[in-house]
Amino acid sequence: MNATEKFREMKRRGQRITALTAYDYPTARLLDESGLDIILVGDSLGMVVLGYEDTTQVTLDEMLHHTRAVARGVKRALIVADMPIHSYDTAEESVETARLFMKAGAQAVKLEGGVNHVPQIEAIVSAGIPFMGHIGMLPQSVREEGGYRVKGRTHEQAEALRRDARAVETAGAFSVVLEIVAPETAKMISQAIQIPTIGIGSGKDCDGQILVTHDLIGLFPWFTPKFVAPEANVAEQIRNAARAFVARTRGG
Ligand code: KIV
Repeated sequence: MNATEKFREMKRRGQRITALTAYDYPTARLLDESGLDIILVGDSLGMVVLGYEDTTQVTLDEMLHHTRAVARGVKRALIVADMPIHSYDTAEESVETARLFMKAGAQAVKLEGGVNHVPQIEAIVSAGIPFMGHIGMLPQSVREEGGYRVKGRTHEQAEALRRDARAVETAGAFSVVLEIVAPETAKMISQAIQIPTIGIGSGKDCDGQILVTHDLIGLFPWFTPKFVAPEANVAEQIRNAARAFVARTRGG
């Protein structure tokens, strides 16, 4: 069974899929050692590591650089890399970009979009590259959308999302991220398709869960999404260690 079939099988068996983001070697290695199923080199990199306002400024070169670092640290989890904005505007460009990510050490790629990105997804899958979908709130469209808002609250929105999920599945994706989707809609979609849904801020009924690691471990204290319950406060530990070092050094 290849890695992507494994995730469909996990859904069939009711086994929850675990995924977190990583952007560097030590984090990737630590997460891999913790037994995660999927490590995503997310373009959230732009916000939590590079200090951009949103993900729309992340470049392909930046994503490839961080994918290489993550690949050096991972032995068993599936490495998925995010295709940044404007790196998949056409089907041809999508395949070129996806191939660059595979060369950098990714084992699958993800892009944001549903029905309107079927040609890109089909081209990637036809090139033999495993593909993960991403529907719901699409951070690369945050400027047009005017913010990070819950999707799938109305019947119309829920039906549009169901069509997106089906389109992504039919085009050959092995799983699909549902970002900030109303929990009842996320549940309905999870029951409507055969590939696993991986939720972020989309309730407990998805087939798996993904978070930005910085949110989970409290390493980006200036903003934490409402749906995250941090498991650590690494930012405070860094501050305390630095303060202790400053005091020790100045104190002679
Ligand atoms: O970029 C990212 O980290 C993501 C997750 C939020 C799913 O796409």
